[in-house]
Amino acid sequence: MTTVFATGVLAGRRALITGGGTGICRGIALAFAAAGCDVAISSRRAEHLDPTVAELAALGVRACAVVGDVRKPDDVDAVIATTVSTLGGLDILVNGAAGNFVARAEDLSPNGFGTVVDIDLKGTFNVSRAALPHLRASGRGVVLNISATLQLLGTIGQSHAAAAKAGIDSLTRTLAVEWGGYGIRVNGVAPGPVDGTEGVRRLVSAEARQVIAAQCPLGRMATIEEIADASMFLCSDAARFVTGVTLVVDGGLWLRSSSTLGI
Ligand code: COA
Repeated sequence: MTTVFATGVLAGRRALITGGGTGICRGIALAFAAAGCDVAISSRRAEHLDPTVAELAALGVRACAVVGDVRKPDDVDAVIATTVSTLGGLDILVNGAAGNFVARAEDLSPNGFGTVVDIDLKGTFNVSRAALPHLRASGRGVVLNISATLQLLGTIGQSHAAAAKAGIDSLTRTLAVEWGGYGIRVNGVAPGPVDGTEGVRRLVSAEARQVIAAQCPLGRMATIEEIADASMFLCSDAARFVTGVTLVVDGGLWLRSSSTLGI
């Protein structure tokens, strides 16, 4: 993976990345490890984690996989405990665990809506809350919440995910204010469609790809590496006076249209 950052920009840091086995969060995990950060990744399924942990370890950092569901407080406590015992502490938390599918509100059951809110929004709260004592002990704690652009306009078929991501953006602002006094910065990164991810494979049709390319001011989708670079900025000392911000990284796409998913 190529990077625009100096070697070792996260050396000595210890990160937990939920959802870190696949997609955008795998890219963030690999970028952090390449920058010298020890990394724990978690997910509901070990098969999503093991191949990525091998890649992380090959970069020469301490790496571990922890299975757990962010919806279950007991799982979350165990994930945090294993992370801290394996890595020796926790400096950076990336809340990336998420679930999504396309369904119009009229076709969505209460449990369908609630499931996505439980994973995305309540999961972000659960893990942040459990990580707080360790981030506080770090003295330079950072939380990065993975947001989206769905919630910025009215995105068809995404009432559940958009509500969850809007809640996450709100949580980012509140925790930034409440935890600033503990030396903890809390920010978000909001990707638009990102090439090579499961979300785009499932949610974006071939026609929609053309529409995105035509409408995006920068003329294409993001790469996973571009989201990882923005995440690296927000989690590094380069952003040491940045907190409470959700950084949109979508080439300006959402400014042009909310209806580019082709659904
Ligand atoms: N359309 C409408 N409702 C759906 C749905 C769809 N495509 N997929 C799931 N649901 C509903 C289910 O019907 C269920 O509601 P019900 O009990 O009223 O029928 C509810 O959501 C929970 O579904 P379930 O499959 O039991 O939940 P889960 O906890 O096992 O998994 C997800 C939930 C969101 C993670 C699952 O949809 C999934 O595995 N998605 C693919 C992986 C993913 O989302 N990756 C992230 C990409 S951004």
